[in-house]
This record gives sequence, structure tokens and C-alpha cells, in this order.
Amino acid sequence: MKVLIVGGGGREHAIAEAVSRSKRVSKIYCAPGNAGIAELAECVPITPMEFDKIVAFAKEKAIDLTIVGMDDPLVGGLVDELEKNGLRAFGPRKNAAILEGSKAFSKNLMKKYGIPTASYETFDNAKAALDYLETAKMPIVLKADGLALGKGVLICKDLEEAKAGVKEIMEDRKFGDAGNHLVIEEFMTGREVSVLSFVDGSTYKLMTSAQDHKRAGDGDTGLNTGGMGTFSPSPFYTSEVDAYCKEHIYGKTVEAMKAEGREFKGIIYFGLMLTPDGPKVLEYNARFGDPEAQVILPRLKTDIIDICEACIDGKLADQKVEFEDNAAVCVVLASEGYPVAYEKGKKITGFENFKDKDGYYCFHAGTKFDGDSIVTNGGRVLGITAKGADLKSARANAYEATEWIAFDNKYMRHDIGKAIDDVD
Ligand code: AMP
Ligand code: GLY
Repeated sequence: MKVLIVGGGGREHAIAEAVSRSKRVSKIYCAPGNAGIAELAECVPITPMEFDKIVAFAKEKAIDLTIVGMDDPLVGGLVDELEKNGLRAFGPRKNAAILEGSKAFSKNLMKKYGIPTASYETFDNAKAALDYLETAKMPIVLKADGLALGKGVLICKDLEEAKAGVKEIMEDRKFGDAGNHLVIEEFMTGREVSVLSFVDGSTYKLMTSAQDHKRAGDGDTGLNTGGMGTFSPSPFYTSEVDAYCKEHIYGKTVEAMKAEGREFKGIIYFGLMLTPDGPKVLEYNARFGDPEAQVILPRLKTDIIDICEACIDGKLADQKVEFEDNAAVCVVLASEGYPVAYEKGKKITGFENFKDKDGYYCFHAGTKFDGDSIVTNGGRVLGITAKGADLKSARANAYEATEWIAFDNKYMRHDIGKAIDDVD
């Protein structure tokens, strides 16, 4: 089989690694890929929103399956375009990817179908939003409606901050068109857990749980980022939490999408907060998380291609989805200054240390070739993942492996997975 992966970050590297383990796959392409993915796949210089070029390439190479890793092309309808041209693709169609693409849509869906989430109001003009804030309880959360690279969420501690936030999103258009509509929601407290699932329209199968660390600095300080590290499984995702979410969240979401005529095939990522009143949905994504994929996929035992095909064909009920009984931790190596301003083009050394080391992975997020060298090409540069028998050993292994890589301005958090220590 020939497989095309769309995207070029750490998540797509982890997808490529899982696909490379499939006995059914003879050739992998990635558009556009990156310097690390290039070891597993032939990278083609097409960007994820160039739908015509992707379709033409998939036809020309007779691609059997396209896996769309990123949110933008999913929300924009790449899967629909591929299908219209008789090509098979894994991921939700446009009318289902709206689950991630519009926070107003997903909040309204949860309200309509009684799925637990923070209470909220939506606004399409700044004046009404500002009036509402006058009597609202603080802190409060502002969310730009559309895709904003995971950064369109402002947590405001008082009225002044909240008013400034409304201006930034709706008047100064800090997140562009994502700010046409605004969701203002109740501030919740609790631990966060990411639970991802494969979905075939009617049936869902859960993946192992994970937890992301979104803030830039140690101790969850600093700005929100795309994710500075992850661990899997989450010890806070207990069997009680699992049972509650199965009854109130997962199946209800899949059924709700079907009832709305928006059958969802692909991945639903449930971003959960374990609040004192029980688990609630913080957000849905319509794809693998990044860097959740970098700790979940290395632990996947089942052939990922079998799972993708079962989702497309509506046969997930008969398909196994199994994970190793161990743990994994991913520490992101970023460029100093991320997520605000950072330099690129720094030479990276030490990749050879990962050769033949079972259970260690160096996933590339923002890298590129510069002649024979590999250089930094983004804020998040690499995701260093290691497995271990349990979370503590996986964490020790991952931090050890972060030392194998060197580049100027290398920055990482030092407390990824520290929450594990609270469990004992
Ligand atoms: P989202 O993109 O919706 O997941 O939001 C990004 C991050 O903001 C989440 O991972 C939470 O840490 C935080 N957040 C979002 N919504 C809320 C909320 N209602 N209460 C508290 N924190 C929130
Ligand atoms: N790690 C969060 C996300 O992928 O949205």
C-alpha cells in the first residue's frame, strides 16, 4: 500500500513512525514533511492547504490512503476533496471537522445534547460581550471561535483583563477571522486529561490517555503554547472517570454528530477537565494531539492502517485497538523565546545517539535541511520521547535523552510529568 501523510510537525512524524511499522505499507509520502520524517517517508513540497496539488499528487502516485494530520486542512475540507476524486482518506469531512473548527458549534452541540462542559454565552459583537462581562463572575475565559493555533484562549482574572481581551479578539483581530465570534465561558478548575478516540461514524474506540503541558514555563507559568511535553497514560484518568465519561461524554458526542447529519469518521480528541463536579469537556479536536501523538502512537500495538481503514469503512466495532502496558513521556525541545520571538537556523547535533535505541524517539517538529546539516526551523524543534515500564522511568529516560541533542538556544521545561509525583 502507498500512504500519504499531510502535515509536517512532530505529530506527523509520530504518525509516519506508526505507519512505517505496518506490514501492509510499501511506500510513505509526506506533504510537506520535515527533516526527520524524511528518514521514513519521501517528502513532497506541497503545503497542507494546497488541496488541488494534494489531490493531483495522490492521483498521480495512486495513493491508497491519505492520512490528514492537521486541523486546518480537515476544517477546510481536504477529506471531501480527496473523496470527490475517488481517493480514500482518513479524517473527518468538513461538516464533521467543525467540531474542532468552531467553538461556538461545539459548545452549542454540548448544550443541546446534555454533554458536560463549562457554562457559556456566545457573542458576535464586542458591545454585547462587554456588557455581559459587567455582571459576570471572575476569573472568566474568552475563546475566539475559530482555529487559532491553540492560542485563541484567554483566561482573565478580573474585569479589566477581560475587557482588554474582548478588544484584542473582536476589535484588534489578534486571531484574525477566528475573532468574528466569541465564546465567553465559566472558569473551571481541575486536572486536565486528553483522551483520544478512533471513530467510524457510530462506534468509538478509546486510545490510552495522555496529559499535555500547555504553558511555556516550569510550574505551568508563562504563555500558552502548542504544547511543551506530554505523558501517557494519565494516572488521574481512573476507572471511575473512565466510566463517567463513557456514560456522559464519548458515545453521546458521536451520537450527537450523527443526529446532526455530521457523521464523524476519524479521531475525536476529548480535552477534559476533572472538575470537583465531575469531568467536563474543555475542547474537542478532530485529529491527533500534538504532542499527545508522540506519547500515544509509540505505545500503539495494533497496525494503524487497519484502524484507519476500519474507521473509513464503518467497521471499527470488529477492529482491535491495543496499546502496550507501559508508559511514555515526551519533552519538547524548543527555541528560547517560543512562543513569542525566537531565532531559527541553528545547527542541531546528536541525532546519531538515537540510533538503535529501542524505546527512544526523536520526533522532529520544526527542523529543516541546510545542506548536509539539520537546523532549527520553528519554535518547537524536537519532541524527545522515551518509553519506560512506568511513568517515572519513562520520564527519567526522556530527560536523559534530551541531553543527547544540542543546539544554540535549546529550551525545555524541566517538570514534564512532575504531576505523577502527586499520585504516590
Ligand atoms: P482550549 O484550546 O479550549 O483547550 O483551551 C486551552 C487551555 O486553556 C486549556 O487546555 C485549559 O488549560 C485552559 N482553559 C480552557 N477553557 C477553560 C475553562 N473554561 N476553565 C479553565 N481553563 C480553561
Ligand atoms: N496538545 C494540544 C493539541 O494538540 O491541541
